[in-house]
Amino acid sequence: MAELRSAAKRPRRLRRTAVIRDLVRETRWDVGHLIQPMFVREDERIAATVPSMPGIRRFTIDEAVKEAGSLADLGLKAILLFGLPSMKDDAGTAAYADDGVVQTALRAIKAEVPELVAVADVCLCEYTDHGHCGVVVDGHVDNDASLVLMARAAVSLARAGADVVGPSAMMDGQVRAIRTALDSSGLQDTIIMAYAAKHASAFYGPFRDAADSTPRFGDRRGYQMDPANVREALREIALDVDEGADLVIVKPALPYLDVIRAARERFDVPLAAYSVSGEYAMVKAAASLGWLEEHAVVAEILTAIRRAGADLTITYHAKDVAEWQRRRAHG
Ligand code: PBG
Repeated sequence: MAELRSAAKRPRRLRRTAVIRDLVRETRWDVGHLIQPMFVREDERIAATVPSMPGIRRFTIDEAVKEAGSLADLGLKAILLFGLPSMKDDAGTAAYADDGVVQTALRAIKAEVPELVAVADVCLCEYTDHGHCGVVVDGHVDNDASLVLMARAAVSLARAGADVVGPSAMMDGQVRAIRTALDSSGLQDTIIMAYAAKHASAFYGPFRDAADSTPRFGDRRGYQMDPANVREALREIALDVDEGADLVIVKPALPYLDVIRAARERFDVPLAAYSVSGEYAMVKAAASLGWLEEHAVVAEILTAIRRAGADLTITYHAKDVAEWQRRRAHG
């Protein structure tokens, strides 16, 4: 009887007080690891708000500069820029125009907030009238023709001040094409953060509302990865590292924690997880109904992504989290 009332092992000892729990906590994160995505619009007539992404704005260039300053003041270190051009065409010309919306935003932001690390997404989907991530030839996205344009975009964005370029079109050889183009343009120091394992996910829906980049025909399954595949994700990452990626991204994050874990165990390069628009929208929707506690849920999600092995997390919650922490610190 005595044995029944006396457990041999008592793991609860280490959970007894907040201080003890804090002492033995295995996973921590801070705002210094978070990257805030930002949408910049070239045309004032494009609406600022996005219904499926409450709290996220599409900034004019002036607003983006102000916002970048606020983010830096809050302790955030990096932003990821996406552009909404005033003109789209079948070759995505606005993606590699030296006076393109992201190029112009980069010059303005770097002049005012030079310490903020600026990552520029490199893709054509926001700039093509058909909404695909590359050049369409005979109804198919042509890999090698797209590489030429992506390389041009990367050089133009780096010249405009991007510290990091993030190729996200899932074209084969995109990292090598961009590294070669950057190096031959004297841009050896520009970092490549490769969207290496990017799955064809329905969680990108709200982003496509924000970026107006839903494909007009077909879908992205011919270039983005099958959500079912983890070994293929490791092959994709290995290729990107071999091609010269400095950092690699797994995307989405929360439904793909096993992919993050597998990538962490296999590779030594810094690993970023992209917690995408649909992950954000789910939390915002449930929180607005009073069904989830937003601060606690976001903290738990960020902990889970880091526990899975991510070094950096790209998240639309970054600014909110930084504000919540500041408020808590100042009572
Ligand atoms: C561009 C790109 C997309 C996202 C990041 N870069 C959209 C897509 O692939 O359709 C999605 C980000 C998100 O959902 O937050 N190719």
